[in-house]
Amino acid sequence: MLTIGIDIGGTKVAAGVVDEEGTILAQALRPTPADRPDQVAETVADVVRELSADRQIEAIGVGAAGFVDETRSVVRFAPNLAWREEPLQKKITELVGLPVVVENDANAMAWAESKFGAGRDQDHIVCITVGTGIGGGLIFDGALYRGRWGMGAELGHMQVVPEGKKCGCGNLGCWEQYASGNALVAHAREISTATPERARILLELAGGSIEGEEVTEAARQGDEACLEAFASLAEWLGQGMADLAAILDPGCFIVGGGVSRASDLFLDRARDSFQRRLTGRGHRPFAEVRLAELGASAGLVGAADLARQR
Ligand code: BGC
Ligand code: NA
Ligand code: ZN
Repeated sequence: MLTIGIDIGGTKVAAGVVDEEGTILAQALRPTPADRPDQVAETVADVVRELSADRQIEAIGVGAAGFVDETRSVVRFAPNLAWREEPLQKKITELVGLPVVVENDANAMAWAESKFGAGRDQDHIVCITVGTGIGGGLIFDGALYRGRWGMGAELGHMQVVPEGKKCGCGNLGCWEQYASGNALVAHAREISTATPERARILLELAGGSIEGEEVTEAARQGDEACLEAFASLAEWLGQGMADLAAILDPGCFIVGGGVSRASDLFLDRARDSFQRRLTGRGHRPFAEVRLAELGASAGLVGAADLARQR
């Protein structure tokens, strides 16, 4: 049986036809109509039409970067996107006439990694996606944990710094303001403004517009500001993992998301930070800290598989 998985990101809508083994048989990509959240359903319907033209499709799974309700239909809130009480499932169903399941993007990714990726041999997993924000997905006893109202595992909004930096969710000091891709770039920009002599490589590479790609490249070339920004991200990731392990005691953490493409610049230090901070260390095993395996398609593969099991 085939299903279609769709990952709605801040910039692209990525879709794929996926089989029972998690293999992608066909793919399609569209730009996200980011300034028109009401148009997202249309874009999704459009890729579904393209991908289902010559195939029998049973259901659609959609991964969305926000708080999805317990009926897996409505994106109630999205800290980094314009969705508020968005009835995504209803809109898409009306347009495509197939069963639709809406899932939090990081939950979908965690599901894919646990079934087909880095967590295949584990059944207590905490998945952390480091991108624009920080997403979370929890797998306990092999099942996805959603919480009472569908909104569990919003790991990025743990408040790690009292009265800290302002977050897109409206609160202060959330983890994603210290350990996400956006936080990384903001930090590198701050250092380069305060002490440009430490950011010579970055400033030369970026020529005015500093984005994630430039921060990564400059760090690889030894830029001090960017190395400091990556070090800070790593320390904060480890701090968060230590707190999560204190509560959840997983067998492994899986780190994915766009920033994990630069894992060589932070993952070892994040693991070290986690181990230095874990409560009870010396009297317990350390959860493994692994890199996600499925890359950019994890979200759509997970959403497709969750739609199959609806
Ligand atoms: C949102 C989550 C989402 C994550 C990654 C966070 O800011 O609150 O719902 O999973 O970003 O996209
Ligand atoms: Na989640
Ligand atoms: Zn927040």
